[in-house]
Amino acid sequence: MSQITAGNTTISLVRGDITEQDTDVVVNAANTSLLGGGGVDGAIHKAGGPQILEECRQIRAAQGGCKTGEAVMTTAGQMKASKVVHTVGPVWAGGSKGEYILLERAYDNSLNLVRKAKLKTVAFPSISTGAYRFPTEQAALVALGTMVRFARKHEGALDEIRLVLFSDTDLSVYRKALDEVQQTMMG
Ligand code: APR
Repeated sequence: MSQITAGNTTISLVRGDITEQDTDVVVNAANTSLLGGGGVDGAIHKAGGPQILEECRQIRAAQGGCKTGEAVMTTAGQMKASKVVHTVGPVWAGGSKGEYILLERAYDNSLNLVRKAKLKTVAFPSISTGAYRFPTEQAALVALGTMVRFARKHEGALDEIRLVLFSDTDLSVYRKALDEVQQTMMG
C-alpha cells in the first residue's frame, strides 16, 4: 500500500528526491545550528539556493538555532515548493533517551507550521534515519502514527502529507509500517 486517507488528508509514500517535490512545503532534516549539512540538509540548500541560508541566519539571530523536536519555516528559494520547514530530529541513542517523543514532536511541530501558514500539501523525508541513525522501521511507525493523529485532530487542514523515500528499501519499510498503522489505527 502506498497511501491512506485520514481526516480527509491523503497520507502517501513515494520514492524520490525531496528537493523535486511540487508540494507547497518540503521539510528539511536539519541540525540545531540551521547552518546546513549533508544528506537532505545539503540537498535542500543546494537546490533552493542562498536565500534559504540567509533566512536561517536571521532565525539564528532572533532565537538562536532550532532545538531538537522543534521546527522553523523559511523560503524554498528556487525549488518548486514555496516554503521549507526545517526540523531537527533526535540522534538515536539506543531508544531510552526520549528519542521517540522527540521524533514525534519534530513531525507534529512541522505539520502545525504548515497548518498555521494555511498551506495544504507537505513532503517529508524520513527524519533522523540517516546520519542520526534512528532505526527506519521504528521511525516509520512514529512518523505515520503522528501523521494520522494530526490529520484526525485537524480534519481537512491539509490535503496531502507525502513521505519521500530515497531508496526502495526505505519505501518497502514504510509500506509495511503503513499497513500496520492502517490495521491498528484505522482497522
Ligand atoms: N531526498 C529524500 N531523502 C533523502 C535525500 C533526498 N535528497 N537525501 C537523503 N535522504 C534520506 C536518507 O537516505 C535518510 O533516509 O533522508 C533520510 C534522512 O537522512 P539525513 O539527511 O542524514 O538526515 P538525519 O538522519 O535526520 O540527520 C540529520 O544530517 O545532513 C545532516 O545537517 C544534517 O546534522 C543533520 C543530520
